[in-house]
Amino acid sequence: MLKLAVLVSGGGTNLQAILDAIDHGAITNAQVEVVISNNAGAYALERAAGKGIRHLCISPKDYESREAFNEDFLRQLDSYQVDLVVLAGFLVVIPPEMIAKYRNRIINIHPSLIPSFCGKGYYGLKVHEGVLARGAKVTGATVHFVDEGTDTGPIILQKAVEVQQNDTPEVLQRRVMEQAEWKILPQAIDLIANGRITVEDGRVRIAE
Ligand code: GAR
Repeated sequence: MLKLAVLVSGGGTNLQAILDAIDHGAITNAQVEVVISNNAGAYALERAAGKGIRHLCISPKDYESREAFNEDFLRQLDSYQVDLVVLAGFLVVIPPEMIAKYRNRIINIHPSLIPSFCGKGYYGLKVHEGVLARGAKVTGATVHFVDEGTDTGPIILQKAVEVQQNDTPEVLQRRVMEQAEWKILPQAIDLIANGRITVEDGRVRIAE
């Protein structure tokens, strides 16, 4: 059984998609061990509480230095002994020590087709604002492993979504979530939980 930590900052609709997929059997061999938020007011924490899942808040704001936060964050994560860390809308930079220790065991959902509209400054609604400002006709979402760069790790799954003429950033964000994020994030977890993902030379292979 793959033990998951799901890291969140906000509404937690991707967390909900994971919980639903586990309930419905779309994800097998996995369970959510802990939900961690950097924001005490995140609705995602209520979703975890409602399911009786352990949850906690850890924020850089509560520490004297970034180093102190990074150290304690890693110590707390380690204490749950999880196999996979899922960044589901988590907006804090992952400490380098954590990336090294959990190599190919941290995945992130990003709301665009990487390598477009990703990297520094592209998160949440800003991604969709960028897509609309550029006049792109297709966008989507990407699940990837986390490495030392911003949105640069090996790509696991992607799904395209059409941009429509009168989209606002909010409308587009919702369509990308519904048509792509809530599907490919649970799918990627199921593939990993069932041993179908390997990483070779920075690229992901999916076993048939
Ligand atoms: C999602 O759209 C996710 O892709 C995005 O934040 C949102 C969180 O929503 N993540 C990023 O932009 C990371 N760069 P949720 O809390 O409802 O799952």
